[in-house]
Amino acid sequence: MKAIVLCAGLGTRLRPLTFSNAKHLIPVANKPVLDFSIESLVAAGAGDVGIVVNGDSRAAIESAIGDGSRLGARVTYIEQPQPRGLAHACLCAEPFIGADPFLMYLGDTLLPEGLAGPTVLFRQSGANAVVMLKAVDDPNRYGIAEIEGERIVRLVEKPQHPKSNLAIVGGYVFDRNIFDSIRRIKPSSRNEYEIADAIQDLIERDLVVRPYILQGWWKDTGNPQDLLDANRAMLDTLNRDVRGKVDASSMLEGQVVIDKDTEVSGSRIHGPSIIGAEVRIINSEIGPYTSLGDRVRVVNSRVENSVVMDDSIIIDLHQPLVGSLIGRKVRVYGGKKGSAHRLLLGDACEVELS
Ligand code: G1P
Repeated sequence: MKAIVLCAGLGTRLRPLTFSNAKHLIPVANKPVLDFSIESLVAAGAGDVGIVVNGDSRAAIESAIGDGSRLGARVTYIEQPQPRGLAHACLCAEPFIGADPFLMYLGDTLLPEGLAGPTVLFRQSGANAVVMLKAVDDPNRYGIAEIEGERIVRLVEKPQHPKSNLAIVGGYVFDRNIFDSIRRIKPSSRNEYEIADAIQDLIERDLVVRPYILQGWWKDTGNPQDLLDANRAMLDTLNRDVRGKVDASSMLEGQVVIDKDTEVSGSRIHGPSIIGAEVRIINSEIGPYTSLGDRVRVVNSRVENSVVMDDSIIIDLHQPLVGSLIGRKVRVYGGKKGSAHRLLLGDACEVELS
């Protein structure tokens, strides 16, 4: 079975990180979200993967993923010329898919349980579509499904008055009928061709749409809090693995991963946390629930429940850094105690000072 991963979204909710980084490449537990996505497609037997990109995200995604062989996949790039919604992105992939059933996956979705379950259900049930769902507390943020017996009978995109709490999580299996339905729908009030509307059209044509209710956790990593939550959940699955050098005055507690050529001195690292390669941690306290990318440097500072990306520097902070997302090549340093704050911030940064 072929698969498509939709990666053409602009990532506006993750600005400023997404001004210079495709949102699908933002790391969770030091691994790009898109790597996890492609690995779960390969594990579900769908290693022939079309990645739908836009003009902005294409170069970064191509240079990170290449031909996909690093992840056991064979990747084709498909361009979505304008951001006109998930259904439009799916239609752009029609020439790649051809006439066979396929998996569709939203590239910023993390779903460790994988995609084998809905794929098997699709094959065994003979349905025209299978949609992965999960009960949520905030149904107006998602596409919502209503179920009767073994069928989905109605889907509404971000309803104001939701009739169920079963959210569309971003994994779907379709047969070729979906393309005709996409051609039949009109743009929604946010001027996008919604995949929920196209699936509703399948239902109205009396085609069979079955729910697959996810048992495990799932995260859409589209906003900062969800990204930090996803990082926490992934870090919880780590096993201790220490390759770098930790001096005698440092302490590691719990599940800590430290990559090669990293040096820790006079510091405490609380797991679960992951530290990349060639990192320097000096007189500092890291974690719990913290990811430091490659070549990060932390000196005389405390960092907790945060993601710090490659090549960033954190020095002499008087207060701990908590619940923060720090991009690449960022410098954060404490001034003289009691002195005024001095900031150099790009567009759409968010800073909380105390
Ligand atoms: C999209 C889908 C929605 C789904 C959600 C899952 O919404 O349109 O049906 O529930 O992903 O994350 P978006 O993230 O584009 O607002």
